[in-house]
Amino acid sequence: MRSSRENVAHAGLLTAKYSAFYTDKKAVAAGEKIVSDSACRRCHNIGADGGTAAADLNASAMKYTGEYLDGKIKNVNEYMPDFHFTDGERRVVILYLLNAASKQPKKVSEPYVAYITPSKKGAFEKHCGGCHRMITRIGGGKGTGNEAANLSGLLTEYFVSSVLPVGGKHWTEKRLKEWIKNPRSINKLAVMPPVRITDAELDKVIKDISGK
Ligand code: HEC
Ligand code: HEC
Repeated sequence: MRSSRENVAHAGLLTAKYSAFYTDKKAVAAGEKIVSDSACRRCHNIGADGGTAAADLNASAMKYTGEYLDGKIKNVNEYMPDFHFTDGERRVVILYLLNAASKQPKKVSEPYVAYITPSKKGAFEKHCGGCHRMITRIGGGKGTGNEAANLSGLLTEYFVSSVLPVGGKHWTEKRLKEWIKNPRSINKLAVMPPVRITDAELDKVIKDISGK
């Protein structure tokens, strides 16, 4: 009878710390900026937009408490990058996730299946997996490297490159092939060594990355 708005919103599961997702527009905007700068949408759907390699965070936000989501961002699994956020940053990120989810119409979708154990060794593992890792919806987690970028969602609009010259932040298949064979043809300062690879193997790597 005396339920507050947050109790109504999440059936009593939402604690005060995360209850301002509806009212604190400044905090929500700060969270939105962090989510955008971190390119979470390479792997997750958030609000109306995003990839499908990992959990749909609208569904997660509807299903779990703020604490639960917080724990997942703080102590990440193998294929989610550790963003090293402060407590304050995680709080606003979660406010944004809750806010974004609350605005989405509930849709019935196929159940999400998480594959987070490394799959059998394929072309990506062989040629790239020592330095990189990634997760795809169909292929699951691939690679074990931590010293170079997590390549999940590489060929989608959600991946924002840190090496492509200004004005072209997104990868295409053609540029990626050039990069793999000779990174310095794309960026003179590239650190990644050229990968010695046949065209057939290169096609397999691209297939692994696009998750098809
Ligand atoms: C490289 C891919 C990748 C990126 C980028 C990524 N995540 Fe994740 N995230 C995962 C994976 C994998 C899981 C484990 C669950 C799954 O397989 O979907 C996960 C789980 C989560 C969960 C728990 C979901 C649940 O239902 O248990 C939250 C919350 C989350 N991520 C938030 C974020 C946020 C916020 C960002 C950006 C700051 C982010 N993630 C970026 C891959 C990613
Ligand atoms: C010996 C380690 C190593 C191997 C093997 C390797 N990479 Fe890299 N890769 C790097 C490093 C280091 C970077 C960081 C960017 C740079 O080169 O300046 C990088 C960057 C990248 C980027 C740019 C990411 C961005 O921000 O746009 C892509 C794409 C990439 N690698 C793809 C691949 C693919 C595909 C393979 C396998 C065919 C591969 N790499 C193999 C070390 C490696």
